[in-house]
Amino acid sequence: MWTTRNNILKLLVKFVVVGFVSYFMVTWFFLRKRKTSASLPAFHSNKTFDNLFLYDGISLFQNKSCSCQNMRGMQVYHLHTYFSPDEVKFVRERRKKEMSHFQSRHAPKFQKILLAVPDSPLSYPIYGVEVMPLHTILIPGLKIHRPDDEIYEMKLQVTLGTLNILVAVSHNVVQGRGEKKLIISSLKVAFLNYILQHITYTSSIYQNHAVDVVTVELSSHKIQFPVVIRQPHIAKLYDPGEDKKINSMVTICTKTFLRYYKLLLLIESIRRYYPNITIIVADDSKTPEKLQDPHVEQYFMPYGKGWFAGRNLAVSQVTTKYFLWVDDDFLFNENTKIEKMVEVLENTDLDVVGGVVAGHYFNFKLLLEEGDEEGHCLHWRSGFYYPLEGFPNCTVTGGVVNFFLAHTEKARSVGFDPKHQRVAHSEFFIDGLGTLLVGQCNDVKVDHQKKKISSDPKNAEMQKIYSTFRTERQNNIYYKLGLLYFKNHLKCFTRK
Ligand SMILES: *[C@@H]1O[C@H](CO)[C@@H](O)[C@H](O)[C@H]1NC(C)=O
Ligand SMILES: *[C@@H]1O[C@H](CO)[C@@H](O)[C@H](O)[C@H]1NC(C)=O
Ligand SMILES: *[C@@H]1O[C@H](CO)[C@@H](O)[C@H](O)[C@H]1NC(C)=O
Ligand SMILES: *[C@@H]1O[C@H](CO)[C@@H](O)[C@H](O)[C@H]1NC(C)=O
Repeated sequence: MWTTRNNILKLLVKFVVVGFVSYFMVTWFFLRKRKTSASLPAFHSNKTFDNLFLYDGISLFQNKSCSCQNMRGMQVYHLHTYFSPDEVKFVRERRKKEMSHFQSRHAPKFQKILLAVPDSPLSYPIYGVEVMPLHTILIPGLKIHRPDDEIYEMKLQVTLGTLNILVAVSHNVVQGRGEKKLIISSLKVAFLNYILQHITYTSSIYQNHAVDVVTVELSSHKIQFPVVIRQPHIAKLYDPGEDKKINSMVTICTKTFLRYYKLLLLIESIRRYYPNITIIVADDSKTPEKLQDPHVEQYFMPYGKGWFAGRNLAVSQVTTKYFLWVDDDFLFNENTKIEKMVEVLENTDLDVVGGVVAGHYFNFKLLLEEGDEEGHCLHWRSGFYYPLEGFPNCTVTGGVVNFFLAHTEKARSVGFDPKHQRVAHSEFFIDGLGTLLVGQCNDVKVDHQKKKISSDPKNAEMQKIYSTFRTERQNNIYYKLGLLYFKNHLKCFTRK
């Protein structure tokens, strides 16, 4: 009996103890929980942050603080170091001046962020209002959502144009028609809303692309929305002819220098598959030789004028929608199907599509990372961005080999900078960043003529002279890095 009571007591004590412990634990748990929910989570550590938005090993979080870090197997160029220390100060000053002129001409004129205000009694268009220079549009979507219980005064204001109303109302109700500031007073919301449906915007500046902001004030509320002023591009179309023949759509372009024996082999191989297609040859050889082919246009240039100058000249003479770039030592074969490339450019947004040269599927990405006033960072990475939708043999990339089909108009708008006299190729795609969309297909192929020394002594001699021009010297490399610094306003360049 006694022991039983004793046991019950023990049990009771146990319950009380367990109860207290649980109570404290639960309270502690909830207090802790409340405390953590009250304090905000800490920002990521710098290391976690840097790894969060990695693309190809580069953190692409846009915060104007790019850098070119040395990693294994990577070439890193800090571009200002390719000028002498006395020189760099003046180069930087000149570059700064040119950059500000470039920006005033090209940078978006309007970079403000417009925020929607809470509890606005007004509905208004937040995006998509567009007008051509000097034209007038009706502003869509303006409406007051409020009961009829006060006298409303509403102000609308713009800076790059004027406002007006398409209905006849008295001057007491609407002031400032045809001016930058319109004031409307009314007792009735319904009446006001009727007027709001008929407000026009007239653009008064002539710009290809500008943004105005409409500010609307209604008692203590103020909202803002953009009006885009845009002159549409005039069309420049190329007639492909009734049957869309390849000859009417594509011109083959090449540049030659001293190596006629190679060029003749190339033309012979092209004629096997495309007997009548126009071939444009830019030629800066020392002793020009006339090519005998009714469909070859040969343009003679001053001796040794250079590689990109020749590309520019050839492409400037194209009158078809597309041109195919080839080097003078390529060889067409049964897989050199220009039609496949045309199909890609005709059915996608791409401007350039490359193929495969001698089995090499060479392509690269160009990642421009935002920097400070010293310039952006450019990262060259081999490979492509992703597969091209609808074309399983093709990819979207940043740059391709010397064998590509390009949209004539678009490629011309980038141009081949004649400053590049010798080895250059990626430079065209760097200059084309933001203009060109580039792809590559692995099922369109061209061959490369064998490198072996020609047995003909004259050709062998030409080959020797040619090589001295094509071998990249150090001062040429420094010159190109200097161009990246000045012309492309870059701070540094990495390649992997
Ligand atoms: C993280 O980076 C920022 C900005 O670069 C710097 O101000 C901060 O000190 C860094 N924090 C740590 C813990 O290194
Ligand atoms: C900017 O982003 C980089 C990662 O790309 C980071 O390391 C750096 O701390 C950030 N700087 C600032 C000022 O936020
Ligand atoms: C090539 O052009 C010639 C005339 O210049 C014409 O007789 C011939 O049929 C054309 N060949 C092809 C395949 O279009
Ligand atoms: C892709 O390339 C292969 C090999 O050249 C070819 O057989 C196939 O038809 C191509 N696919 C498409 C969709 O063009």
